[in-house]
Amino acid sequence: MRLESNTFRSWSYNVVIISLLCDSNALLKFKNIKCTCYEKSFCELKRCELKVLGRGSIGLYLHAQTHQLPIKSTTCIISLYRRFNGYRPFLYNITVDICSFLKNRKHHPFLDILYDGIRNFTNVNHSCPFNHDIIVNRMVLNDNMIAKVPVPNGFYKLMFVVKTDGILRGEVEVHVEVNLGYDR
Ligand SMILES: *[C@@H]1O[C@H](CO)[C@@H](O)[C@H](O)[C@H]1NC(C)=O
Ligand SMILES: *[C@@H]1O[C@H](CO)[C@@H](O)[C@H](O)[C@H]1NC(C)=O
Ligand SMILES: *[C@@H]1O[C@H](CO)[C@@H](O)[C@H](O)[C@H]1NC(C)=O
Repeated sequence: MRLESNTFRSWSYNVVIISLLCDSNALLKFKNIKCTCYEKSFCELKRCELKVLGRGSIGLYLHAQTHQLPIKSTTCIISLYRRFNGYRPFLYNITVDICSFLKNRKHHPFLDILYDGIRNFTNVNHSCPFNHDIIVNRMVLNDNMIAKVPVPNGFYKLMFVVKTDGILRGEVEVHVEVNLGYDR
């Protein structure tokens, strides 16, 4: 009995140390990012990566140089996938006119939640037109975001497909793990 309880204690001690090292108690974690610019004459990727910051926290960096400025109108198709024998569409698939969204955010509650998470880290933080490159700098996920999107634990993929003048310009794919530490 005594032995068992000691074994358990040392096991839980190890778990605590490991989770401090890996920060695995973060509820939301970036796992991967992939960006594509379809037309070099329109955009070029200077940066598209995740980087481990201090304490296992992960920062997202994106810099898309844009060659046809200003951008006065752009459409974005945003879809969520959940991994289940490959990635399957899950809950959200919206097509949004970004300029009208930035004018009135109430019409797209899902994008509004995403935008709240990203706005402090991007220069896409004002209304149209855009006269500059598109940059996301050192974006980190915030555990509070999970309260607003009540999804079960799992691996998710968020796809952003960007069009201007009806032409496909680029795609950004972000993989995120949700792990609440319990099922819901
Ligand atoms: C999302 O909607 C767009 C536009 O209606 C459609 O082209 C696309 O196939 C849909 N994607 C998914 C994953 O259902
Ligand atoms: C963004 O910045 C504001 C003001 O500093 C802060 O109140 C808010 O919590 C920040 N949001 C995120 C997601 O970091
Ligand atoms: C938008 O982002 C830029 C660059 O990060 C920053 O200098 C500016 O103050 C931000 N503007 C607003 C309205 O938050």
